[in-house]
Amino acid sequence: MPPAAGEKECDLAMGEYHIRSYEDRDHEAACTMFSQGITEHVSAGCRHLLSCPQTHLLLLGVFLITYTVSASLLFSFGAVSALLATGLIFMKAAWTDYVREALEKDMLDIRRTYLEPKDCHFWVAECGEEVVGIVAAVHPEDPSLRGQALELKRMSVKKAHRGRGISKALTRTVILFAQERGYKEVVLGTSMVQYAAQRLYEGMGFRRVKELYPSFVAKLLQFHVYIYRYEVPGPH
Ligand SMILES: CC(C)(COP(=O)(O)OP(=O)(O)OC[C@H]1O[C@@H](n2cnc3c(N)ncnc32)[C@H](O)[C@@H]1OP(=O)(O)O)[C@@H](O)C(=O)NCCC(=O)NCCS
Repeated sequence: MPPAAGEKECDLAMGEYHIRSYEDRDHEAACTMFSQGITEHVSAGCRHLLSCPQTHLLLLGVFLITYTVSASLLFSFGAVSALLATGLIFMKAAWTDYVREALEKDMLDIRRTYLEPKDCHFWVAECGEEVVGIVAAVHPEDPSLRGQALELKRMSVKKAHRGRGISKALTRTVILFAQERGYKEVVLGTSMVQYAAQRLYEGMGFRRVKELYPSFVAKLLQFHVYIYRYEVPGPH
């Protein structure tokens, strides 16, 4: 097992946590924390959908067309409401599908995905016996970054333990891990509605370098994923 760069005790004003390598007994807690951390953004995603000018235009278009065809206000409002409900269901499904896919892929066997390959790792933050935070380092999906960057993934902190610097410590753990292995950068992606995550990474010196659309529908709705990059200090 590779040495965990962030295995250290940390004192906190409201208690104590430490960061250690993932063990198989953490699997359920890690998956739950990941799922909850992602699905809590569903409502922000829905708010984005409702505030998007494209949504307003589409709803207006549907209203005008149905009213022209049917001459019924009731039918036209019904059509608009049905479309809106479909959009909100779609938005929720997009988040839950993302979680399901991860649980069926990399999170299914965390040891195999993150602990066995060279230069990958998975850590948990533990408070007493309880797992209260998770983070992973993995080779980036973008082949052009392979060998020069590691990707920070699956960052999540349990709600009751937030605001105590745990995610900062987890981020530093990944940076140190990358530095010790000679990587030049740490990269990551986070969505436009994950505001706390954006502040966290920007506060730690990550720069937003790209905006991507995760799907065609996301492009229509101007729903971005932000790509962040951190330049790891030191000789490489
Ligand atoms: C984002 C998240 C990991 C932050 O965890 P945390 O342990 O509470 O964060 P920390 O206490 O280490 O705070 C680090 C920084 O994050 C930012 N931050 C944290 N919570 C915030 C909030 N509610 N609103 C705005 N900024 C916030 C701040 O910049 C903070 O630094 P500061 O205290 O010096 O101002 C946590 O909110 C979370 O798990 N969210 C759900 C999952 C998620 O979005 N993960 C990111 C995937 S990319």
